[in-house]
Amino acid sequence: MLAKRALLTETPVMVEMQKLIRGVKGCVSLAQGVVYWLPPKEALEKVQELVWEPSVSRYGADEGLPELREALMNKLSNENKLKKSSVMVTAGANQAFVNIVLTLCDAQDSVVMFAPYYFNSYMSFQMTGVTDILVGPGDPNTLYPDADWLETTLQQRKPTPKLVTVVNPGNPSGTYIPAPLLQRISDICKKAGCWLVVDNTYEYFMYDGRKHVCIEDDHIVNIFSFSKAYGMMGWRVGYIAYPSEVKGLAEQLLKVQDNIPICASIISQQLALHSLKLGPKWVTDQVQKLVANREVLIDALSPLGKDSVKGGEGAIYLWAKLPDKYQDDFAVISWLAKKHGVALIPGSSSGCPGYVRISFGGLVEEQCEEASKRLKKGLQQLVDEGMVP
Ligand SMILES: Cc1ncc(COP(=O)(O)O)c(C=O)c1O
Repeated sequence: MLAKRALLTETPVMVEMQKLIRGVKGCVSLAQGVVYWLPPKEALEKVQELVWEPSVSRYGADEGLPELREALMNKLSNENKLKKSSVMVTAGANQAFVNIVLTLCDAQDSVVMFAPYYFNSYMSFQMTGVTDILVGPGDPNTLYPDADWLETTLQQRKPTPKLVTVVNPGNPSGTYIPAPLLQRISDICKKAGCWLVVDNTYEYFMYDGRKHVCIEDDHIVNIFSFSKAYGMMGWRVGYIAYPSEVKGLAEQLLKVQDNIPICASIISQQLALHSLKLGPKWVTDQVQKLVANREVLIDALSPLGKDSVKGGEGAIYLWAKLPDKYQDDFAVISWLAKKHGVALIPGSSSGCPGYVRISFGGLVEEQCEEASKRLKKGLQQLVDEGMVP
């Protein structure tokens, strides 16, 4: 009696991981993609006052509070150089992605992602009935999407895939697709008449002097999130920047929006607005503190060998290959949690069995050092002796 659409969708890996973590007393998590900080104090104080405003308890405009949309248009123009886009505010970037899939794809369409892929995007396709998901390879060294493969696939596959999606910087890869490669991917999509959806959730999470770049065209949709940047995971605010010139797109997006959240929570949009007023430096100051976490975790992964560890260029992730014989990454993850008290995400949930994702955003430095000690000891034992009980 249950819909195949739901039954045939993967089980959310985070739900499985939370079950595992709850079952191990004192387990520290390097699993969930979160940050440890809270939203800006000034913005929280402001919404404390605003909570009494009647408008906060009413429905707002489907596409978002006008003053927030205006602030976002300025931010998109000044920071992201997106000058021809319109904005829709959503209940987080995940909902933004579902809106996009429902607006752009029909169930029989094929779509393209690259391994290792963001598991929620994969599930969003599955549960909206878009089951022909082509997973392209990433370069084994850089993990960047293979643009040659994309070019051939979009030329040969009939009917042409409808949509290509990338996350930049990547979840779970932690790598940053350089601007020329992103542009090439965009050109290939444009030539084939295919949408490109870029998830910029980690736009501010850039390290070692790298600079995040967005691109704009009438076949590109950019997605953003307040969750990680402003420590606003539970407030649920994200947004879509979509090409204003595409006729009918705004109207179709509104239909989807009106049937899922109607509008993003008004008090949350107010928090987003007042957080935005602090400017990007507030965010980048928090983000730079994560470099120490990244370094200590790179050292913790050293038992796997230097070439096995990738990522950390952006976002909050490292990506590591387990020794060849451990294709069952979930078994390794369970063993690490139960025997060594530290939790990671299995790569199989991103289409890459035998790998693990390590998040360096959720713990303050001292906790991260403790997690790293456990991880290093566990991985050394894995390599030297195997999964001893
Ligand atoms: C790439 C990516 N997109 C979207 C999301 C979800 O963000 P939000 O909380 O805004 O829905 C995440 C969260 O981990 C993410 O990593």
